[in-house]
Amino acid sequence: MEIKRVGVVGCGLMGSGIAEVCARSGYEVLVREVNSALLQKGLDRINKSLAKAVSRGKMSQEEADQATARMQGTLDLADFGDCDLVVEAAIENMAIKKEIFAELDSVLPAHAILASNTSSLCVTEMASVTRRGDKVLGIHFFNPVPVMPLIEFVRTILTSDETMEIAHEFGASLGKTMVTAKDTPGFIVNRLLMPYILDAVHIYENGLASKEDIDTAIHLGLNHPMGPLTLLDFVGLDTCLFIADAMYEEYKDARYAAPPLLRRMVLAGHLGRKSGKGFYDYS
Ligand code: 3HC
Repeated sequence: MEIKRVGVVGCGLMGSGIAEVCARSGYEVLVREVNSALLQKGLDRINKSLAKAVSRGKMSQEEADQATARMQGTLDLADFGDCDLVVEAAIENMAIKKEIFAELDSVLPAHAILASNTSSLCVTEMASVTRRGDKVLGIHFFNPVPVMPLIEFVRTILTSDETMEIAHEFGASLGKTMVTAKDTPGFIVNRLLMPYILDAVHIYENGLASKEDIDTAIHLGLNHPMGPLTLLDFVGLDTCLFIADAMYEEYKDARYAAPPLLRRMVLAGHLGRKSGKGFYDYS
């Protein structure tokens, strides 16, 4: 099967990055948001990112214009009828994802592949509301999508070999390196990342070191691009708390238990860069 047209559900931080990377790789892209203000915000983010790529000499103005021309927005999932592959990057809420999967299953052509960009939810549960379990998988991108070179594939016990082959061809066409994990909470990256991030909050909460020293220690001592608390601000405290809670819910393992400070910062609206304040101030 040849993938020509890609659908992306959600045009937030991840959805807009996925739509941009697909359009830059030559696919026709249809992206859906729940209202026109959010759709416009997402498309503006993509155009800004393309303009930045042009200004940094990563692509020509003509290539950026072609990528823009390949992208269309919609508010209606019914418009996805001629998509060969859809990546769902909507809010991390299982009930909403199941609604989207059920609707897409009735709209998409029989050959189409249905993927979720979820970072922690059960892909098998999403597949269970479709009649194409063999064509459902997780395609987990990393933030910022245009920069991060990895895709994590999540294979359920229903996903067919053929679907995995097509997904690999698709990932390669986006210029990404791919790894595959079983459908278990956190997959590979978040299974390892979350205990590390949560531990950083624990040691800060317990007064072992200042936040700056924790970050500098990891940034310069291990050569990570960002220390753990800066990374938490970057990914979003609410997102990390959601992932940790989902992992704790399934494993009941203390390694995934969110520290009290993280939960309270989220309740206080200190979500990181997106809200202007997290462990650091971005106002
Ligand atoms: N979109 C497009 N390009 C971007 C970008 C964005 N949002 N942010 C940065 N870039 C590009 C810049 O244009 C620049 O490109 P160039 O070097 O070719 O000119 C390059 O990335 C480096 O950017 P900067 O010089 O501005 O800044 P840094 O060197 O500090 O890099 C960073 C920024 C790439 C974000 C780097 O700090 C980094 O890699 N941080 C770690 C990110 C990370 O760990 N992401 C994974 C999060 S976990 C996740 O997503 C999973 C989820 O389930 C939680």
